[in-house]
Amino acid sequence: MNTEELEKLRESAYAMLKPSRIAHVAGCEETAARLAERWGENELDARKAAIVHDCTKKEPLQKQLELCEVYGIKPDSIEKESSALLHSKTGAAVAKEKFGLSDRICEAVKWHTTGKPDMTTLEKIIYLADFIEPTRAFPGLEEVRAFAFEDLDRAVSMAMTMSLENMKDRGIEPHPNTVNALSFIKEKRDTA
Ligand SMILES: [Fe+2]
Ligand SMILES: [Fe+2]
Repeated sequence: MNTEELEKLRESAYAMLKPSRIAHVAGCEETAARLAERWGENELDARKAAIVHDCTKKEPLQKQLELCEVYGIKPDSIEKESSALLHSKTGAAVAKEKFGLSDRICEAVKWHTTGKPDMTTLEKIIYLADFIEPTRAFPGLEEVRAFAFEDLDRAVSMAMTMSLENMKDRGIEPHPNTVNALSFIKEKRDTA
């Protein structure tokens, strides 16, 4: 493990965060590292993805849209109105352009909010680490935390189901990527 490389990345990425979000990102990194170890993924890549995953999160919608212009990102109609969705896309672009991270790491950043069908193990790890890291607290989370180390797909589908229910309660339209991601996992499990 190249600790110096990670330390430099933390320093640059944390400087882009609201101070209040650092504990979440640090928790996400440790959780991602443990999940990588459990599921045979590359721990260094998991740490890097977690460190940068929210690097554009503090930017408001207008700035997110400007970043989309800069990086050639074409947001869809739902993303255009949601900085919460756009930060994954713009974060992935910054991970590549500013931090020079590999495509597989950038893809994990890109899909950490909505998920998508047929995710890689690293993408699932970052999606889940973001959801279950230790500073998070809401009903049902302990069960997802337990399954994350028992059955990765089941944990991802539980997290996605909870997210969709939460959005429904708040009257927020879910992104089709999450709906499709959940169907994909369920179909795969049914035919397994
Ligand atoms: Fe995020
Ligand atoms: Fe996050």
